[in-house]
Amino acid sequence: MKIIQVGLGAWGASWLTVVQQSASWELAGVVDVDSAAAERVAKSYGVRAYRDIEHALEDKANFDAVLVIVPPEYHAAVAVPALKAGIPALIEKPLAGNLTDALSIIDAADHSGAIAMVSQNYRYKRAPRTVQRLINEGVIGEVQQIFINYQKNPPFDGFRLTMDEPLIVDAMIHHIDQIRGIAGVEAVSVRANSWNPSWSRFAGNASAVVQIEGSNGAKVIYTGSWASQGEQTSWDGDWEIHGTKGSISWKNNTVQIRFQSLFDTVFLAGATEHSGVMHVDLDDLEVEERLGTLAAFSEAVTSGVRPETDVRDNILSLQLVVATAESAKKDGEIVRLSSVDELLTSVG
Ligand SMILES: NC(=O)c1ccc[n+]([C@@H]2O[C@H](COP(=O)([O-])OP(=O)(O)OC[C@H]3O[C@@H](n4cnc5c(N)ncnc54)[C@H](O)[C@@H]3O)[C@@H](O)[C@H]2O)c1
Repeated sequence: MKIIQVGLGAWGASWLTVVQQSASWELAGVVDVDSAAAERVAKSYGVRAYRDIEHALEDKANFDAVLVIVPPEYHAAVAVPALKAGIPALIEKPLAGNLTDALSIIDAADHSGAIAMVSQNYRYKRAPRTVQRLINEGVIGEVQQIFINYQKNPPFDGFRLTMDEPLIVDAMIHHIDQIRGIAGVEAVSVRANSWNPSWSRFAGNASAVVQIEGSNGAKVIYTGSWASQGEQTSWDGDWEIHGTKGSISWKNNTVQIRFQSLFDTVFLAGATEHSGVMHVDLDDLEVEERLGTLAAFSEAVTSGVRPETDVRDNILSLQLVVATAESAKKDGEIVRLSSVDELLTSVG
């Protein structure tokens, strides 16, 4: 199937290569308001260049889908006209810059029935998929507390440098989406504090501590920094997930289980015991990361079945990010969340 890519910035440049590697998608055109950049990329890939989505849609017979890789505040400006024209959209995270824009994207998808999916690439990796399976199989029992620590000092420039809450909005969106999609915890409330160390490259807050309460009573404690002076974690962060029967440690793409009961440590299929700790072999995936989201998107477009990160579900990840930033702004005040039905009925 043919896809056009909108947005050829820092992340968009690497998406071009990912699309080339994809088994299901072929690049059919590129769009960027920077028309010189669009012309340059179009020439080297032998495809057509457009200066905006409206011009690209005049040629909509020539492609099957659109890939939205522009900054979050412009996601709706690109996705809404495409979806209204019946063109499926794969949208970078976060779904949109705010909830009103997110609802307009959902409304447009409802209008035409076109698939609209968020590319939550952090779900599509071997370690998180292994953790998700172990939790779903009940290996550690009911999850009641999760501790996540994320430490990075990334040399970013561009739109992130001027955001109010770059850590919460641009980094923690991935972890929030994993808390929902991998650990299966849906939030009912959140409280957060954020701050910016003096040496931070960001104008907004690069560090935060966040406490999330899940609908089942589970608590998630998150500490993170994009101005870390210490030991760096992986992009997923270090996770300790505690359940009634034991715990899962997920760090640096390794997964370990510790059991409460001595007898549980003797054997677990797909794991090897070392000093009472089960080291779990990671599940195989055909493709990972963005190739994984492209494959899921193609399956959804072909079958018409909504994908797991369909916009109607993924608005909950955005809502939790927005609520976390709001709590941080209000100095740790508890912010309560709406259910997906409450959110969607506000679309009308
Ligand atoms: N999933 C991840 O791990 C990950 C990593 C980095 C970035 N991202 C996401 O990718 C998206 C893009 O980030 P980036 O770092 O490439 O941004 P960027 O600012 O470097 O590039 C954005 C590009 O979009 C173009 N653009 C802006 N508005 C447009 C419009 N209305 N129509 C057409 N083109 C338009 C700009 O000219 C620019 O070339 C963001 O949503 C960001 O959150 C995701």
